[in-house]
Amino acid sequence: MSYIVATEGLTKRYGTRTVVEDLNLRIPEGCVYGFLGPNGSGKSTTMKMLLSLIQPTNGEVQVMGQPMTRATRRQLLAGIGSLIESPPGYAHLTGAENMRLIQRLLGLNQQQIDFAVHTVRLQDQMDKKVRNYSLGMKQRLGIALALARQPRLLILDEPTNGLDPAGIDEIRTLLRRLANDGVTVMVSSHLLGEIDKTAHMLGILSQGRMIFQGSRAELMTASAPDVIITCSDPRTAVAKLTSFNGRMTDAGEVAVPALDDRQTAGAIAGLVHEGIGIFGVRRDEQTLEDVFMHLTAGGGL
Ligand SMILES: Nc1ncnc2c1ncn2[C@@H]1O[C@H](COP(=O)(O)OP(=O)(O)O)[C@@H](O)[C@H]1O
Ligand SMILES: [Mg+2]
Repeated sequence: MSYIVATEGLTKRYGTRTVVEDLNLRIPEGCVYGFLGPNGSGKSTTMKMLLSLIQPTNGEVQVMGQPMTRATRRQLLAGIGSLIESPPGYAHLTGAENMRLIQRLLGLNQQQIDFAVHTVRLQDQMDKKVRNYSLGMKQRLGIALALARQPRLLILDEPTNGLDPAGIDEIRTLLRRLANDGVTVMVSSHLLGEIDKTAHMLGILSQGRMIFQGSRAELMTASAPDVIITCSDPRTAVAKLTSFNGRMTDAGEVAVPALDDRQTAGAIAGLVHEGIGIFGVRRDEQTLEDVFMHLTAGGGL
């Protein structure tokens, strides 16, 4: 697997406070990586370290296979577009004037500028002053400014923050389109629902630590939902499964938490051995929100 971003033991401390702890990020090239966590969990701090805007206390950042060092920094950052916290852009200038500034700063050609503006669908708003833009338009201008250099990697910190549902949807569509065109997108949010279906990979932070990293399907599996058993004698079955914390559900079924496949087979074999008739075994339905609440222990996502 080739990772466009990988960190080893990335850590940031302010005084005695550790705000990012021992992070091993793995972002595969070409994906949308949803970086999720409650407010204050360390998302922005991590992204700033990836962009070399702040120095890690410990650990290493690798981008496009190379360690980020004083010597490689410039060259690596040339391949990264970013939008950190509030949308950039000068409010008293028009969209076009803002784009012209970045064009001169980075020595870009007109085609690159037009491409970025069209990608975020702002071509009809370029003559308006940015102060008259909606928040969604400002965010899209911010993304256009980040895209103009045609980066391989785009790092967006809460680009959907404060947007209405239509605005959020526009950003989601845009991110998917970018990933289809081969740009890797790392996008953070404190709201699961805003990134959820857009992201191929998820990294979940809680109090500066990565509590999960993987695909959505892996997240659902990792959280090991209850196994629900329908059987001829639920009362005896619950008694037999006390070591597994088995309990009776309202529907008269037996629920057993967090069993892996092998444990499930063992538990069922034990019940069969007792002469209990097994009618059905299934995994409980659970939503990604349930998993989240469970993982972050109700941390407000
Ligand atoms: N410059 C700083 N000095 C001290 N503490 C900071 C600084 N920047 C961020 N923090 C703290 O680090 C924690 C993580 O912040 P942040 O990375 O902004 O979280 P998030 O982006 O997930 O909301 C917060 O508790 C914040 O108060
Ligand atoms: Mg933040």
